[in-house]
Amino acid sequence: CCPTMSLDVQVSKAFLQEVQVKEINAVLLTKGMSDNWESIWNFQAKPNDLLIASYPKSALSGTTWTQEIVDMIQNDGDVRKCQRAYTYVRQPHLEWKPWLLSTPGLEEAEKMPSPRTMKTHLPVQLLPPSFWKENTKIIYVARNAKDVAVSYYHLSRAMSVLPRPGTLDEFIDKFMNGRVLWGSWYDHVKGWWNKKDKHPILYLFYEDMKENPKQEIQKILKFLEKDLSEEIINKIIYHTSFDIMKQNPMAGYDTIHINIIDHSISSFMRKGITGDWKNHFTVSQSEKFDEHYKKKMAGTTLTFRSEI
Ligand code: A3P
Repeated sequence: CCPTMSLDVQVSKAFLQEVQVKEINAVLLTKGMSDNWESIWNFQAKPNDLLIASYPKSALSGTTWTQEIVDMIQNDGDVRKCQRAYTYVRQPHLEWKPWLLSTPGLEEAEKMPSPRTMKTHLPVQLLPPSFWKENTKIIYVARNAKDVAVSYYHLSRAMSVLPRPGTLDEFIDKFMNGRVLWGSWYDHVKGWWNKKDKHPILYLFYEDMKENPKQEIQKILKFLEKDLSEEIINKIIYHTSFDIMKQNPMAGYDTIHINIIDHSISSFMRKGITGDWKNHFTVSQSEKFDEHYKKKMAGTTLTFRSEI
């Protein structure tokens, strides 16, 4: 129904420089993001915007998944409308410049008509202040730390525009110390959790979405003050299931040029399951992780339903 862009792109040298990292308030971001930091920080949110926030691989950690569910809800389950463009065009990623676009997500967002839906992986302390000022609704998606680490590791291996992960052991270490893009998972999930009672934030978990997608979709509907029939909700569950989304070229990143994601190494829509960390972590890696996790998560009321 709407124009899409050619996938036949080459990665420019300038784009690959994005892979260099820089810090903003001790959070690692790409050079592109930090160079553009002033515009990101000054981004003007509106009261009728919707922001989908997550730590990377959470909200894909279920991010992309949540984005598709939200777009289906906003379009009353109309599959064709949801295929009008790629995910990152329909819901711009504020701080990131996607590979097929010449402008950063926030500039795409500025051109969009309201009501806009956008995505961010920024930790709560780096969110542009206008979102708090305008009381914009935010959906946050969190996922089990070990599954996020495994998913993030595989994407980093395959995706040329992310810093090289090293071995899984090395990556787990970087993950535990927050030395990965978008910073510490622990600070991210806790930071957003602590904000949720002071601001309209719907805090969701990937594991709940896997176990009971209908219940989680109903939470989103209530949050968005929308009502849909049982039939449309079932349609949304079907079209946003892992296997169907994987086949939808507009809903994931599996059609991205091989220079950006080498799908022979790992795809973006990789497994879409909970507990895959058990197939990756050794017993000693898991024990070390658990010990560190207890310290980092001590004193928070945030708990993850499935075992870590
Ligand atoms: P895996 O690598 O464990 O398969 P994000 O969008 O935040 O980057 O998260 C990506 C993760 O979400 C990937 O996890 C991806 O497979 C998973 N995912 C994407 N769509 C999904 C869906 N419809 N159902 C379940 N998992 C999904």
